[in-house]
Amino acid sequence: MKIFLDTADIEEIRTAARWGVLDGVTTNPTLYAKVGGRYEDILTEICGITSGPVSAEVVAEDVEGMLREGRAFAKLAPNIVVKVPMSEEGLEAIFRFAEEGIKTNCTLIFTANQGLLAAKAGASLLSPFVGRLDDINQDGMEVIRELVTIIELHGIESEVLAASIRHPRHMTDAAMAGAHVATLPFKVLQQMVRHPLTDKGIVTFREDWTKARKAADEKNAAQASGDGRGAQQADEKVEAITNKPGV
Ligand code: E4P
Repeated sequence: MKIFLDTADIEEIRTAARWGVLDGVTTNPTLYAKVGGRYEDILTEICGITSGPVSAEVVAEDVEGMLREGRAFAKLAPNIVVKVPMSEEGLEAIFRFAEEGIKTNCTLIFTANQGLLAAKAGASLLSPFVGRLDDINQDGMEVIRELVTIIELHGIESEVLAASIRHPRHMTDAAMAGAHVATLPFKVLQQMVRHPLTDKGIVTFREDWTKARKAADEKNAAQASGDGRGAQQADEKVEAITNKPGV
């Protein structure tokens, strides 16, 4: 499963790229509002960090307006994908963009049927919003499962992009449901990295390393001076490290 970062924050994107886990970026007007500046400049900068798809969202609600905005975004970089909302006008715009060879990400999908229509119109990415469905007590992940099944059953080329990801469990479930892509906030990416037992293990290994080195030095010194009791005590220290519970 590809991992996209759901942000317009350049530092977050640079960090994920350094970790080697970044396959692309999605932005939307709300994410853009958090960082400010010129949207076009931010998109260009993001496209310089990742060669993966970078979604740029149109805000026009009429077909010609969507086409105008999307064509301008597409000129910024070859990896721009124009994000178009699901609507009658959006479908028409997606179809026209496909004819022009401009890739699209159909956003604000909440049912498998909406996703099927977006795929038929020619969207390369289909974005069901998992978290927003969960928020209204519906099973967001079920839409991912249904849409992935439809796409695979009918050999459709569009990819299912699990959007509106709110926590690490969503990522595991999206991957197990066969989503081709999931886009997540940087905070959720950080949460995926961490586990309390990993943190505890790192500390314990460092402490054991220090104790073992000290015991080895003590044993060498004891042996060099013919101190048999000292050498035995050093061995007992090593035994205490290796015999503690959990090792
Ligand atoms: C991404 O393409 C979507 O715009 C985003 O995931 C929406 O997330 P939200 O529901 O947390 O705003």
